[in-house]
Amino acid sequence: MDAQLPVIRRYGEAAVAEAAAVLRAGGIVALPSETVYGLAADARDSAAVARIYAAKGRPSFNPLIVHVLDLAAAEAIALFDADARALAARFWPGPLTLVLPVRSEAGIASLVTAGLTTVAIRVPAHRAFRAVLAASGTPLAAPSANASNAISPTRADHVAASLGARVPLILDDGATAAGVESTIVAGRTILRPGPVTVEMLAEVLPVAAGRTAHVSAPGQLAVHYAPVKPVRLGAVGRREGEWLIGFGEVAGDDTLSARGDVVEAAARLFDALHRADASEARAIAVATVPEAGVGVAINDRLRRAAGR
Ligand code: TXA
Ligand code: MG
Repeated sequence: MDAQLPVIRRYGEAAVAEAAAVLRAGGIVALPSETVYGLAADARDSAAVARIYAAKGRPSFNPLIVHVLDLAAAEAIALFDADARALAARFWPGPLTLVLPVRSEAGIASLVTAGLTTVAIRVPAHRAFRAVLAASGTPLAAPSANASNAISPTRADHVAASLGARVPLILDDGATAAGVESTIVAGRTILRPGPVTVEMLAEVLPVAAGRTAHVSAPGQLAVHYAPVKPVRLGAVGRREGEWLIGFGEVAGDDTLSARGDVVEAAARLFDALHRADASEARAIAVATVPEAGVGVAINDRLRRAAGR
């Protein structure tokens, strides 16, 4: 086998057991979640968590999300108030991350929280991620499984292309459903828009949409999820040398959703950016996506991809 390639195992009992064994031994494994593929390690093991940072080339001040099986496991790690419990009851398992005070006795490696007094925590819905959580018996820290500042992976081959042999094992369970990273909520503020939209959150709590004045999520750098090529937004047609990613009536080399569906567009977004980056064109243009529902998260990621 080529030394530059990771091992990719199709989801199943044997692959789950293999992944859990690697994690228990302090290794890292790429796993699918309902949002994007994550690069997981035992959140209690600082050496294992350090391997995530090393593989991604991520600055160590950027804290990670802790993934657990259920609310009880989350309450053993973080301090929940009534608001947090209401959100967890409605949206877990699912693509919502809560930022909460970390319990001092939680046993989470300080590298996970980057020394903050809060922890970002979520209960994923994906069968493969849940099976590995159950088999490993430990909370798993996992950022998206891409090199730092590269496009988030929604398929196993995206992980392999971005991280290569820096990730020894990838659990492959096909393309992820939601396609953009989880919504992050701290108190009543959305730190990162995602598949759980402001309208959905508002059914439970009055949350503030949009960005907080100060950057309390260090990962929210303006330039993030960046393709290698320049990206132009709001395109209605292709200019010379461009690869056009369409939406709705704007047809291109590719489309996020020909029928103008933002949910379909979210699921296809990162795959479309990966294809555009891999094409012969020297620049990427993207059609306008409506700022509604999960379109808010899509536009957030597109603005970062365009570096503004
Ligand atoms: O969907 C997802 O959330 C995926 C899957 C794998 O779960 N994970 C993911 O992780 O997107 P990552 O590391 O790419 O993004 C985590 C974000 C970063 O922006 C980080 O700064 C923020 O969460 N974060 C983590 N802990 C935080 C904390 N205590 N306070 C504020 N923001 C925090
Ligand atoms: Mg990421």
